[in-house]
Amino acid sequence: MRHTRVMQNDEGQTSQPIHNIVYCSQTAQHMDKEALEKIIVTAKHHNPRFGITGLLVYGSGIFFQWLEGPRDNVTSLFKIISADPRHSNVVLLTKEDEFRERLFPNWDMELVAAEDISAVLEDAMDAASDPKQKNTLSKMLKELNKSPLGN
Ligand SMILES: Cc1cc2nc3c(=O)[nH]c(=O)nc-3n(C[C@H](O)[C@H](O)[C@H](O)COP(=O)(O)O)c2cc1C
Repeated sequence: MRHTRVMQNDEGQTSQPIHNIVYCSQTAQHMDKEALEKIIVTAKHHNPRFGITGLLVYGSGIFFQWLEGPRDNVTSLFKIISADPRHSNVVLLTKEDEFRERLFPNWDMELVAAEDISAVLEDAMDAASDPKQKNTLSKMLKELNKSPLGN
């Protein structure tokens, strides 16, 4: 299935607030390393052109993804990802606007092992100067601790 990308090129990203979406989902079938790699290659290809950064966590048949960037682009990408048959039961956990800075500025889309995600989020929390961001990361950590993503 092909999707029409209506995302804008991200020339003016510094003037726009950073929007972020965090969701989790379940995979239709077990994702092996190759299948995960395929998603990451696609993401690393598209995301920089649209000013999108973030991270993807996979463990025990569950995806957890953080997307950040200009609002229209993040919203369009989330629609595309939600319709992807490689996963289902997409649950939106957080949707926030007006971030002053990115949490993962250098990550076009990084795949993080489930056992490392707490450390990644704690690092990002330490680095964040915006209290709103710290709060969001703390919420994410709490979500994770409620239902840990084992391997
Ligand atoms: C869990 C998950 C996360 C994804 N993350 C991204 C992403 O960050 N960026 C992206 O372009 N595509 C991502 N995709 C792939 C999209 O759903 C879609 O297949 C892809 O953007 C289509 O690209 P194409 O038109 O070049 O084939 C993801 C897919 C899944 C299942």
